[in-house]
Amino acid sequence: KIPLLIDTDPGVDDALALLMAFNAPRHEVVGLTIAAGNVGLQYTVANALKLCEVAGVDVPVFAGCAAPLLHPARDAAYVHGRDGFGDINYAEATRRAEAEHAALAILRLSHEHAGRLLLVALGPLTNIALALKLDPTLPERVARCVVMGGAVTAHGNITPAAEFNIAFDPEAAHIVFEAFAHIDLADWEAVIAHGLLHDEVLRWFQVDSERARFYESISRKTREWSADRRGDYWHSADGLAMAYALEPEGALEVVERPVAVELDGRLTRGATVVDWQRQDGRADNAAILLRYDQPRFEALIQAALAAG
Ligand code: BDR
Ligand code: CA
Repeated sequence: KIPLLIDTDPGVDDALALLMAFNAPRHEVVGLTIAAGNVGLQYTVANALKLCEVAGVDVPVFAGCAAPLLHPARDAAYVHGRDGFGDINYAEATRRAEAEHAALAILRLSHEHAGRLLLVALGPLTNIALALKLDPTLPERVARCVVMGGAVTAHGNITPAAEFNIAFDPEAAHIVFEAFAHIDLADWEAVIAHGLLHDEVLRWFQVDSERARFYESISRKTREWSADRRGDYWHSADGLAMAYALEPEGALEVVERPVAVELDGRLTRGATVVDWQRQDGRADNAAILLRYDQPRFEALIQAALAAG
């Protein structure tokens, strides 16, 4: 099986992506490294542990950085709930996080699975950036790196030009985009192009499964929030990135270009700047997902909810 390491900040859409990963027949999740992002680290860690408990999977959870490298955190609790899981007041998981720091776990697992590791980043890139600073040879051992982040034509979701995961910690994103020669990128604009009909999603919940019941309840608030703003379609950013990671054959249109992260812009800090015309002479470092097989994406989600 392909060893899969997920860096994540759960987060409602992270949770869906994790359920997809737990259900993947060709992959084995070897660890969850947890970032601060959607909400504070104490919540994202607790949410990861709870999701593992609900799903009945025994995957080690490693707590990572509690704040961006340089600047104060600006969370997304208004989307995901104060606790990041829709404020349903779930009973805390009995399991605890491992003692090892997420950045160290990334490095150790990269050695244990050298040349085979699939690294998927679903949150701000702080832990991976820290791992890279500790050991810049990390990319040599990663077979493939998939990132959910960015807005390739500057239709941001947190500022006019920037997407949340990158804008939360632009310096970390810069480090990661400089270090990896190739990143498979699922950006916010791809997410918007792959909406899920609310009515369909409700139908997927009509299944006798603990995973579906839990997911229905933690996602309720954010689905209502999204229906108010974006109408008939709901969007799962991390779910789309996970589909691209698990079944890359489903990617129908991908474009390779150099991508850099803006660190200084007055209006554009945290933007992912794509050199569409290849004017700088830099090598392409990202395979940007433009179109994914929508029925395949939806089938992965439906199966993930029904499992367990
Ligand atoms: C990304 O930001 C977070 O709020 C989501 O979990 C996703 O990873 C979308 O911009
Ligand atoms: Ca996320």
